[in-house]
Amino acid sequence: MNTELKEGINWVGYIDWTVRDFHGYKTDSGSTYNAYLIEDEKCAVIDAVKAPYAERLIDRIKARVELEKIDYVVCNHAEPDHSGGLPALMKVCTNAVLVCNAKCKSALEKHYDTSSWAWKIVDDGDSISLGKRTLSFLNTPMVHWPESMFTYVPEDKLLFSMDAFGQHFATAFRFDDEEPLDVILQEAKAYYANIVMLYGRPISQTLEKAAELEIEMIAPSHGVIWRSHLKEVFEAYKKWVVCKPTPKVIVLYATMWQATEHMAEAILEGVQECDVEARFYNVDTTHPTNIATEVLDCAAIAIGSSTLNNSLMPKMAGVLCYLGGLRPTNKQGFAFGSYGWSKRGGASEVEDRMKDMKIEITREPIRSQYVPTPELLEECREAGRKMGKYAEQFKD
Ligand code: FEO
Repeated sequence: MNTELKEGINWVGYIDWTVRDFHGYKTDSGSTYNAYLIEDEKCAVIDAVKAPYAERLIDRIKARVELEKIDYVVCNHAEPDHSGGLPALMKVCTNAVLVCNAKCKSALEKHYDTSSWAWKIVDDGDSISLGKRTLSFLNTPMVHWPESMFTYVPEDKLLFSMDAFGQHFATAFRFDDEEPLDVILQEAKAYYANIVMLYGRPISQTLEKAAELEIEMIAPSHGVIWRSHLKEVFEAYKKWVVCKPTPKVIVLYATMWQATEHMAEAILEGVQECDVEARFYNVDTTHPTNIATEVLDCAAIAIGSSTLNNSLMPKMAGVLCYLGGLRPTNKQGFAFGSYGWSKRGGASEVEDRMKDMKIEITREPIRSQYVPTPELLEECREAGRKMGKYAEQFKD
């Protein structure tokens, strides 16, 4: 495996082939926790790995340099998938100073016993010389946590971008030109949608900051390192930060006795009369991770739920809770669903959740008492047609 990013800079992280859940994100492709070793007149480790894999990190470092020669351990982000290995690493790197910003120090102190650690607190714009190289630090709050920062090596035009530009993608290869581009961009999209979609504005500000740097390589803390397709991932991020709509319509539903499903099918029929991508998801058979990834760039979405006990079907409630946290922007849509003896809950509650997400509501909820009539199904079709027509305007 080629681990060399630049002469004297190597990947020393851990490939997590088997992880399938990342705090609710279904990681079918596994992940990696990327850490990097810079060997210069002074040596630095950039980020760590999840706690259970700390020994693997230490072994990879030891294979290249004596642990006593590590001068700096940089922590760009305190989330435990990157900081969990720090206690073990700091214990064996007896001469190392932990480099991070003040917010990160505070977060690390609340996670671990840091009483024996030596610290160097840096702020935005600060730098440290390693000899031939410099480590420059940029605060990037909310990408992904308040303490997050990037580390930049100007001499190598190399940006350690922490979670930004990452992918939950396990592969034996470390670089973006060693895997198919469509695969890694799709993984980057899923990662963006499920981890950082809520933080579009700060990410946009971070992109502007990064655009001022000369960058030849981006080394994120998950997935492959970008050395050949920086333009493509930057362009993709510019679209994702604003959830830029594409000509795609989603029909998403939860059904009890198939009345809501029949309504969903009729809406889909209307959408399919238009020249757009149509996506159809039953929450019983599609994981929220995949739904969030598709919602990121849809133009419109119809969301339906049968009424259950004056509320929603529980799986739909879960999906809307998940999407509500991620807050996709630039979408319009409407709610639908069946009910029996109570109009409370069901479609009304779906609409409330859509309003909370700031989805532009285009019409009143479509409701069916028990089984939908042909007239009601035609109303569903017409609503689908209107969504499809709206989405057509986003064709290139
Ligand atoms: Fe990969 Fe926000 O941690």
